[in-house]
Amino acid sequence: MRISVIGCGYLGAVHAASMAELGHEVIGIDVDPGKIEALSAGKAPFFEPGLGDILTSSMKSGRLRFSTDIADAKGAQVHFVAVGTPQKRGENAADLTYVDAAVNGLLPHLNEGDLIVGKSTVPVGTAARLAEVVAASGTGATLAWNPEFLREGFAVKDTISPDRLVYGVPAGAAGERAKDQLDEVYAAAIANETPVVVTDYATAELVKVSANAFLATKISFINAMAEIAEVAGADVTSLADAIGYDARIGRRFLNAGVGFGGGCLPKDIRAFAARAEELGRGESVRFLLEVDAINMRRRDRMVDMVVESLGGQVYQKKVAVLGLAFKPDSDDVRDSPALDVAVRLNGLGARVIATDPEAIPNSIRLHPQLGFATDTHDALHDADIVVLVTEWKDYRALDPVEVGELVRDKVIIDGRNVLDPVAWRAAGWTYRGMGRP
Ligand code: UGA
Repeated sequence: MRISVIGCGYLGAVHAASMAELGHEVIGIDVDPGKIEALSAGKAPFFEPGLGDILTSSMKSGRLRFSTDIADAKGAQVHFVAVGTPQKRGENAADLTYVDAAVNGLLPHLNEGDLIVGKSTVPVGTAARLAEVVAASGTGATLAWNPEFLREGFAVKDTISPDRLVYGVPAGAAGERAKDQLDEVYAAAIANETPVVVTDYATAELVKVSANAFLATKISFINAMAEIAEVAGADVTSLADAIGYDARIGRRFLNAGVGFGGGCLPKDIRAFAARAEELGRGESVRFLLEVDAINMRRRDRMVDMVVESLGGQVYQKKVAVLGLAFKPDSDDVRDSPALDVAVRLNGLGARVIATDPEAIPNSIRLHPQLGFATDTHDALHDADIVVLVTEWKDYRALDPVEVGELVRDKVIIDGRNVLDPVAWRAAGWTYRGMGRP
């Protein structure tokens, strides 16, 4: 099929390249000339395993192009809207400026029978409102909502082989046709028996935000247990293993530590709570504000643990911070707990030297006041304390004996509970996990 993708951020760039990889003819469009220049040269503008490879192969095949001009969407049959919906400044609600601009920008370039497909995460009710805009345009185009569930770090795999597809479509013949068009787009995944849920706009929008709300709740649940474990002298990691054996609970997303961040979970639960208030049902998801609060407290706790471990004297102490990205295999530092902890410690007067395999450039742009080292050994050299905040494979594999020779004081706080306390203690370290004795 001929496809346009409006917005070439994490979601759109991966979607465009993956659709081309599946054999469609794709044009990716973004207002940022720097991004389009990089993508046109076959370079991923951010770190995402596997993206570079499919970009290069699709560009070579001639099936993938990029442009800054939305008029170049003309001629595509399916137009994906994959722009950002950030948190509004000073509010919990989502900012829909870019979604509205993308849909309105497409209208003059649509042909009869074209399908606009929203992928961005939006407050419930947005698709119905936009469908009216599309209908009033007289273009004969239809709107569908097809939320995306990709995880950063696995984005290409999640896009090409998703665990489910959700189509929010209008009732009647237009909806039937939209479903057929989407089935054609996702023919490869459907042939592999990917389940497809066909539903209305509101349900499709809610599926997305409720999935992220559930995941955030699961993480905050285990972090709440970590808070209790801390005062009760229990071990939250064993607790998670034990409750996780119950298949109804499951062990995934039960890793306690410094909490969740990124461009999705934090802003999505806030926007959901804000939208529920607008709908007069604020109480139904008010617990999400508690989920948010538990999550933010983990960062406070981490900072407190560092201060405590330094005997209350943080000023001028060298703190080696391992990790800046909000999770491993990503260079994304949006709402990253790791970067936040580094900034707070720096604010207390510590000499923070932070390192990360991929996220240093993005961190420098936001917080040039921090100290950075590209080499892990340089970050660890002479450190008074080591703080692990993003569980990159390299940090999990650190040898406590070797690291012990680099630092000034053998004190480590494992903000992701990924190190083996026995091995670190045996090497003479004071090891502290989060929610572990
Ligand atoms: C999340 C969802 O997992 C995706 O399904 C969704 O499509 C995406 O948001 C989105 O809305 O676009 P992502 O933000 O890439 O994906 O990251 P996750 O893997 O969900 O991790 C989020 C945060 O939770 C990270 O900071 C991670 O370190 C933290 N986390 C995760 C924990 O603290 N504990 C866990 O057990 C799991």
